[in-house]
Amino acid sequence: MLILGIETSCDETSAAVLKDGRTLLSNVVSSQVPIHAKYGGVVPELAGRAHIERVHEVVQQALEQAGTRIEQMDLIAVTAGPGLVCSLLVGVNAAKGIAYALRKPLVGVNHLEGHLLAIFLEAEVAFPFLALIVSGGHTDLCRADGFGEYRFLGRTRDDAAGECFDKVAKMMGLGYPGGPAIEDLARSGNSGAHRFPRSWLEAGSLDFSFSGLKTSVRNLLLKRETGGGTRLSDADIAASFQDAAVDVLAGKAMAACEREGLRRVVVTGGVAANGRLREKIREEAGKRGIECLVPRPVHCTDNAGMIACAGYHRFLKNPADELMTVDASASLPL
Ligand code: KG4
Ligand code: ZN
Repeated sequence: MLILGIETSCDETSAAVLKDGRTLLSNVVSSQVPIHAKYGGVVPELAGRAHIERVHEVVQQALEQAGTRIEQMDLIAVTAGPGLVCSLLVGVNAAKGIAYALRKPLVGVNHLEGHLLAIFLEAEVAFPFLALIVSGGHTDLCRADGFGEYRFLGRTRDDAAGECFDKVAKMMGLGYPGGPAIEDLARSGNSGAHRFPRSWLEAGSLDFSFSGLKTSVRNLLLKRETGGGTRLSDADIAASFQDAAVDVLAGKAMAACEREGLRRVVVTGGVAANGRLREKIREEAGKRGIECLVPRPVHCTDNAGMIACAGYHRFLKNPADELMTVDASASLPL
């Protein structure tokens, strides 16, 4: 079974060809970073326009790299939400056009389910497991008991972890996207140079809060700028901030596993590309005898391969053609 996946929920135009739900034949990602970098974040209107210009070329590239023709596709899977509506609309309409012309079934995929199942591109994972989904728009702890059987245990009450990395990077003049820039700079810094607050919230809560950490970095930067006594380097601040964020993410994931009696954790989403988070969560899981699975960084950040994978499993469970019902939804619930 060949599945064509299309992902345009934010600022990456991506298409992939997946065979039998597991073997990726291609996974093309066209990044819009150069378009948005000068604004310090994604400009929805520009993102939508860039998707329109690129989507067909990206689909074509994915088909060519896979050595396939469009007529050979058995299923079209597209991200229906959540995301930026003007970005989502482009992928959804492109996918509808392709499915209609080919007379092949179409499934709308939840972007979060895509992240959650990205690990299945690399390994067969047994249920149940805990998923920590950490991206630019989401920070969620979710219990997965089977394909399509998910229950939220906690989520961020304010900024998403990736958003916090991006905003801190912007304050430090590191450019967009901030996550990789902070990680790069942190390599030459001392993570023990400054202790930023860790927001654990009330006892037993599995929710997150990152806005206080962001404010704390801002206050420190202001103090340094006005000669308030701190001589910390940018690298020290980046490393100390990264550790504070990572501590809370890993700590809450472990607490969730313990509370739910889960012996397996999957870490996914753009922030899961962060080397320090990958290392820390492996270390903490290892101490507790919990199996830790993290997709390769290219499968953590937005890509159509994960959408094709989630579409495959959705269609296996319920083989319904959604051509007439699927629509772009900015806040599509999982
Ligand atoms: O999953 P993703 O590609 O898009 C969304 O669904 O949001 O995640 C993008 C987010 C951005 O906030 C970006 O700064 C963050 O993931 N990110 C990272 C790293 N690579 C990407 N954050 C920390 N360290 C990284 N290496
Ligand atoms: Zn994402």
